[in-house]
Amino acid sequence: MAFTHKHLLGIQNLTVSEITTVLDTAESFYEISTREVKKVPTLIGKTIINLFFEPSTRTRSSFELAAKRLSADIVNFNLNASSAAKGETFKDTILNLEAMNPDAIIIRHSCSGASHYASTFSQSNIINAGDGSHEHPTQALLDAFTMRQEKKDFQNLKVVIVGDILHSRVARSNIFLLRKMGARITLVGPPSLLPEEFKKFGVEIDFNLDHAVKGADVIMMLRIQMERQTKNFFPSVREYRNLYSLSAQRFGRAKKNAIIMHPGPINRGVELTADMADCAKSVILKQVENGIAVRMAVLYLLLGGKDREAID
Ligand code: CP
Repeated sequence: MAFTHKHLLGIQNLTVSEITTVLDTAESFYEISTREVKKVPTLIGKTIINLFFEPSTRTRSSFELAAKRLSADIVNFNLNASSAAKGETFKDTILNLEAMNPDAIIIRHSCSGASHYASTFSQSNIINAGDGSHEHPTQALLDAFTMRQEKKDFQNLKVVIVGDILHSRVARSNIFLLRKMGARITLVGPPSLLPEEFKKFGVEIDFNLDHAVKGADVIMMLRIQMERQTKNFFPSVREYRNLYSLSAQRFGRAKKNAIIMHPGPINRGVELTADMADCAKSVILKQVENGIAVRMAVLYLLLGGKDREAID
């Protein structure tokens, strides 16, 4: 099987073959969540810790469900009820949790590089569930899984990623993944949130959403990340909405069979109108559903589950 990493820290160091292995493995796990009894014994006896230093609805829940559907034991670290709230360092927190012999630690942290740092001293498999503005690899993998489900092939797919590119770990991981898979990417946003240096990743940059969406196959809207903004990057939410919100009129310029994506959480009426979020072309909840199969695949590939026959 073409996946030999101990950790999943980002997309940047994965090959096309490894990405394809994750997506194919996720496809084989997808059906388990549709069963009456949504559980297989594949990771029985494995222990996983969900260590989230930032809020999360989708990623934390779907890692927990993915682990449980594979019969692993999972512990959810509650930041406010932990000794981190009393000043215990990140390293000491991990070393102490590791003393309890987990097999994998899933980490979300506001600092870019936090998961990589943990991997330098941890014995466990480390999975990056989002580190600062750096990477969110499982989000990009579930986005790719959803695009492949909808569009079959990445070659020459026109993907338009819109919004707060500067602070977005989702944008970075998607750029790395989609470029490797052969998609064409156009980044759109206000100049203050879309530095020209992104061109080095082999993407187009466009500051005009009406222009950029022409002929798009996939439109991925991103949340404005107020929690990572240290200054005002645009004059007002109203102005941002006028220029960069996805409306039915703007969506009409994309290809007829274009799809709308968003990693969540959505700011309805800011990144996109409510009717766009809920329309038949929106695959936003499909992304969430697919997140479980993709995270099952990641846990399985890293933790070396039993023979594949065991899932049936
Ligand atoms: N997409 C995503 O990471 O959502 P959460 O912050 O809810 O996990």
